[in-house]
Amino acid sequence: MSFRLQPTPAARPNRCQLFGPASNTKLPPKMATSAADVINIDLEDSVAPDDKEMARKLAIDAIGDIDWGTKTLSVRINGLDTPYWYRDVVDLLENASDRLDQIMIPKVGCAADLYAVDALVTAIETAKGRKKRIAFEVIIESAAGIAHVEEIAAATPRLEAMSLGAADFAASMGMQTTGIGGTQANYYMLHEGAKYWSDPWHWAQTAIVAACRTHGVLPVDGPFGDFSDDEGYRAQARRSATLGMVGKWAIHPKQVALANEVFTPSEEAVTEAREILAAMETAKANGEGATVYKGRLVDIASIKQAEVIVRQSEMIAGQ
Ligand code: COA
Ligand code: MG
Repeated sequence: MSFRLQPTPAARPNRCQLFGPASNTKLPPKMATSAADVINIDLEDSVAPDDKEMARKLAIDAIGDIDWGTKTLSVRINGLDTPYWYRDVVDLLENASDRLDQIMIPKVGCAADLYAVDALVTAIETAKGRKKRIAFEVIIESAAGIAHVEEIAAATPRLEAMSLGAADFAASMGMQTTGIGGTQANYYMLHEGAKYWSDPWHWAQTAIVAACRTHGVLPVDGPFGDFSDDEGYRAQARRSATLGMVGKWAIHPKQVALANEVFTPSEEAVTEAREILAAMETAKANGEGATVYKGRLVDIASIKQAEVIVRQSEMIAGQ
């Protein structure tokens, strides 16, 4: 056990991040009235190259003109391997209203990528006298990104959230997959002739959660492409929640309710967590470090597990 305390991440709900291309003017008003905690207006891969300039202007207008309520408002800029990203940052930081909370940087490969964006953002914030310090979120979606995930998580105090981007990640890793997230037909174990599917995203997710928890960043699961498959989305989201992720993207509005359902601790789970905390209080009063709850051992580690659930539910209730 290190003597260093684990830093706490930003205390804001991040159960669902709803995406929409900035170039589609119909979407921002609908995104604003959705039940998503975070809105990501996209300038990157859902916007065609010829539309990049127009999309920037539309994003800046949408940020200023629409009532976004208490949502976290983010814009996904283009990657550092494109000619677009610097103009995304300059135009947004010079012209978008202070309602903008964060920018999302895709395809991050090393800590220096964030240093470069941080330097540019810091200079523009100072030059323009911007009042709100812009936060960062990143997508881990390349072999380099996952190989350097810890240095990326530690790169800048601006960093608040980190997502796994399954499609680009799979392509960069050379994985033989086509679906965006979820079960992959060929990833199975064979036992006595029966197939048992396993989870090809597990390692990357766990690496992201560990890096994020070490450095006080929110770990988030990325997109699930088949928006007609609610059960597939739920199964993927439940695995992510079990591993410690706090939320998941929605690339269609119907996925928002699914994410909120999975990442809001159930009443049953909160009641049980509170009962465990009460049982441990009684044990402590009796001078014991462990006790029995519903026939199973609970001890000091159980307090910490239970507190994760209670804290999450209180934060969501108090948003
Ligand atoms: N946010 C808010 N509302 C959305 C939306 C979004 N991302 N996507 C669709 N809607 C709205 C539609 O405008 C439509 O509204 P209406 O009933 O008032 O007409 C309704 O939801 C149903 O939409 P549907 O017809 O099922 O989908 P579509 O064909 O209009 O759009 C997509 C499908 C996938 C193209 C669209 O959902 C989309 O652009 N998603 C985001 C893609 C993205 O940002 N990718 C980058 C991150 S991976
Ligand atoms: Mg991507």
